[in-house]
Amino acid sequence: MQSINWGDLTPEKFLKEYWQKKPLLIKQALPNFQGSIAADELAGLAMEQEIESRIIAQNPDKSWNVEHGPFEDFEKFGEKNWTLLVQAVNNWSRDTDQLISLFTFIPRWRIDDVMVSFSTPNGGVGAHLDQYDVFILQGEGKRRWQVGAPDATLTTLIPHPDLKQVSEFTPIIDEVTEAGDLLYIPPNHPHNGVSIENSLNFSIGFQAPSNQDLWSGFADKLIDEDLGEHRFSDPQRTVTNRPYRLEETDISNIKSFMLKQLSDDKFFAQYISQYLTQSHHTLELLIPMKAFTIEQVLGFVENDEIQFTPVSGIKSLVCYTPETNLFINGDKFQLTDKTIELGNILAESLPMTTEKAKSFMSCLKNTQLLTNVLNKGYWYIE
Ligand code: SIN
Ligand code: CO
Repeated sequence: MQSINWGDLTPEKFLKEYWQKKPLLIKQALPNFQGSIAADELAGLAMEQEIESRIIAQNPDKSWNVEHGPFEDFEKFGEKNWTLLVQAVNNWSRDTDQLISLFTFIPRWRIDDVMVSFSTPNGGVGAHLDQYDVFILQGEGKRRWQVGAPDATLTTLIPHPDLKQVSEFTPIIDEVTEAGDLLYIPPNHPHNGVSIENSLNFSIGFQAPSNQDLWSGFADKLIDEDLGEHRFSDPQRTVTNRPYRLEETDISNIKSFMLKQLSDDKFFAQYISQYLTQSHHTLELLIPMKAFTIEQVLGFVENDEIQFTPVSGIKSLVCYTPETNLFINGDKFQLTDKTIELGNILAESLPMTTEKAKSFMSCLKNTQLLTNVLNKGYWYIE
C-alpha cells in the first residue's frame, strides 16, 4: 500500500490542526488510486445476506427512497440518482482492509470499518451529519463534496423513516473530488456528496463509542462475569429522624459503591479492550473443522509455501496495563514475557511467514498462543 501524499502537511500537523477540528481535502493524496474493489464486486457483496447494504435514491419529485439489501439485481434503479452503500467492506475485501494501513499514525482501535459507496450521476445520501470522524477516499469517478462547519441552527430532516438529513448549510469546502483525493470530515460537520459520474467512495470511519454504549457494554460485562451481584451495604448507618428523605451521604455512598467497580483498573482495561476489538459487523471467521493440535502447528511452520494470515477486518490490540494481554475480536489471550513479541505481531494483524512463526516455536507458550488463535478462526493458514 502506498502512503498518503501529505503535501505541506505531516501526520503531526494534521492531528494538531485538523483532527476533530476542521475538514480538509487533500488533492491527489493517493495518486493512481482507483479503488480497492470494483463496482461489480461491491454489487456482489450487496447480494449477500450477511453483509449490510442499502440503496438510497432520489425520485424525480425530489422525495427520497431507502431500500435495504440483500439485493437481487440493480436494474430497476436505473442509471442515475442513486447510491449503493455497503458497510464493513474491509471484512470481505483484503485490499479494502489495507486502506486502514494509511492511517497508522492513529491507533487501530480508533478505526471502525471501511464503508464503500457506488454512486450513479446525481447520486448521494443528501446533506447529513455523522457523529464520528471519517476519511473519504475517492476511487474512480468524480463527486462534488460540500462540507460545512458545525451549525446549531441546522434543522434535522427525515425525508424517509430510514434517512436522517440536515437542512442546507454553508460550505467551507466545495470541491469536485477525483480518483486519489482524500477528504477528512470531523464529527458533526454537515456534508453532502453528489456524484457527477459513476463514482466509488471509500469511507474509513472512526470508532467513537458514546457514553451510553460504554455504560451498557460495562453492564453487560458485569452480567457476563457474574460480578454485578455484590450488594450495597451501610454498616456505618446512624439514626434518622426524616425517614422519607434520601440524604446526600446516602447518594454519595451508593455512587462510591458503583464507582468502585469502575475503578478496578484490571477489570476496566479488560472490559474496554474487549469492547474496542469487537466487530460490529459479521466477520468471515475461519474456524477449522477439527481443532489443530500443537504438533500440527509445529508441522505448519516447517512448510515455507504457506503463511499465517489474519481474517480480513479483524480487530486486535495489545494492552500492557495493569497486565499484558492480547485481545482479538473481544477475546483475551494472556501474554507473558515469553509471548509478548508474538502477541505484538498477532495484534499488528499483518500476514506472518512460517519462517517468522518458526522463530518463536522453541517456546511452547508461543506455539500454544498461535494454536489458540488459529483454532478460534481469527487467523488462518493460506
Ligand atoms: C457516501 O459515500 O455516499 C456517504 C459517505 C458519507 O457521507 O458519510
Ligand atoms: Co457522512
